[in-house]
Amino acid sequence: MSVVTVGRPQRPLSGRCQVPSDKAISHRAAILAAGSAGTSRIGNFSPAGDCHASTALVRRLGCEVTEDGDTLEVTGLGPSPSSRVFEEGLDCGRSGTTMRLGAGLVAGLPFTLQLTGHAQLLRRPMERVAEPLRRMGAEISTSAGGRPPIHLRGGELAGIEFTPPQASAQVKSAVLLAGLRASSPTTVFEPIPTRDHTERLLAAMGAHVVVAESDQGRSVRVEPGALNPLRLVVPGDASSAAVLAAAAALVKGSDVVLEKVSANPSRIGFFNVLRRMGARVEFEPRGDGRGPEPVADIRVRYAALEAFRIDAREVPALIDELPLLGLLATAAEGMSEVRGAAELRVKESDRIKGLIAGLRALGAEAEELEDGFIVRGPTTLRGGVCDAQTDHRLAMTFTLAGLVSEGPVEVAGSEFVADSFPGFLQSLRGLS
Ligand code: S3P
Repeated sequence: MSVVTVGRPQRPLSGRCQVPSDKAISHRAAILAAGSAGTSRIGNFSPAGDCHASTALVRRLGCEVTEDGDTLEVTGLGPSPSSRVFEEGLDCGRSGTTMRLGAGLVAGLPFTLQLTGHAQLLRRPMERVAEPLRRMGAEISTSAGGRPPIHLRGGELAGIEFTPPQASAQVKSAVLLAGLRASSPTTVFEPIPTRDHTERLLAAMGAHVVVAESDQGRSVRVEPGALNPLRLVVPGDASSAAVLAAAAALVKGSDVVLEKVSANPSRIGFFNVLRRMGARVEFEPRGDGRGPEPVADIRVRYAALEAFRIDAREVPALIDELPLLGLLATAAEGMSEVRGAAELRVKESDRIKGLIAGLRALGAEAEELEDGFIVRGPTTLRGGVCDAQTDHRLAMTFTLAGLVSEGPVEVAGSEFVADSFPGFLQSLRGLS
C-alpha cells in the first residue's frame, strides 16, 4: 500500500487548474454508447480507473472501442445483438457505477453473464438494482447478502413504475437504461432528486424522455426505443474540482480557478455549502451552453469559515463531497452536522466510520451518527496517520488535512486516488 506524507504549504494556493473530466458523465457516455446503434465519439473521456472499468466492460460485451488520446470511440451493440453466454465473470474493478449501470444495459440484451469485481466492490449492495430489473423481467440474482457477483440473463422486459427506496442515481440510471429495451414505458420517481446526467444524455441521443418536477419530487419517464450515437465533450469533474476548492477554502489567502467544470445543478451542492460557510465562490459560465451539460470556471477564495447543517434533501447533490465537508468543518466556527446520509456507509468504504476515525486520529472533535456526523470547530489538527480504507475520496480528504495540520499527515492507501482523480497530487502541487 502506498503512503503519502503531506505538510503545510509555504504560501497560499493560487492559479488556474483543469481537473480531469467528469467520471459520472464518462461512465454514462461509454455505457449508453454501447447500447446505441452506430459509433459514438466522446472527447475528454475520464482517465479515472473507474471509467476504465466501464470501457473494459463494454469492450468485453462486444463493442468496438478505440482510444485516441483522450477521445474514445465506441461502436454500439445495435438493436438486436445475437445471444451470447459469457463463461468468465466480467470484471467491474472497484466501480459501483460500472456494475449497476452495466446490469441495466445487459438486462434487455440476450446475454447470460456474471458481473464481478475487486474485493472492495464485492462488499457493496446490489439487490437495489437487481430487484427492479427482476420486476422488469430479467433473470437476475445477487450473491450472499445481496452482494456481487451478479448473475444475469437478459431478455424480454416490460416497463415498470419504480420508486427507489434510497436516493440513488445509479439505480435510477440502470432502470432507465433497461427501460429503453422494454415493451412499454418505464417511470422512475424520486422523492429526493439525484444527479440527472443519464436523463440529459438519453435526450441528447434521441431517446424519448420526459422529466416532471413537483413538490413531491421528480419523475423520469422513458419510452422504449433506439439510441443515436453520441457526440460529446465531457466537462471537468465537479467532484474533483471540489477537492481543490476545499484545499483553497482551507489554506489562508488562497485564490484558485478550476476551469471548464460541469456546473450541473444536481452535482454542485458542495459549492453551495462552501458559499454558505463563508468562502467566496463564483461561477463563470463557459462554452455556448448548447451541450447537454452546463460548464463553468469556478473561482474559490479563502475566507473564515462557519459551521453548516446538511439534511437528506441536500445530500444527493453533494454525496461524494461529504468527506471533504467533514474536514472543512474542523476549520469552521461552530458545530457542523450532516444528517440523512446513511448511504455513505455503503460507498467504496463506510465513509462515516472511516472519515470520523481519520479526523479523530488527527485531533478533530468529531462524532459518528447513524446517518451522518457532527464536527465541532475550529480545531487545529495535530497531524498523524490516516487510513484511506481503499477509498479514493477518503484518501484525498486526508491528504488535504495535511495542508492545515501542525505536523505532517501520512495517508495510507494514497494509490486509490487514481480511481477518480489521477494526477491529484500534481494538480495540488501546481496550485501551491
Ligand atoms: C454516482 C452516484 C452516486 C455517487 C457515485 C456515482 C453515479 O452513487 O455516490 O460516486 O455516477 O451515478 P449512488 O447512486 O449509489 O448514490
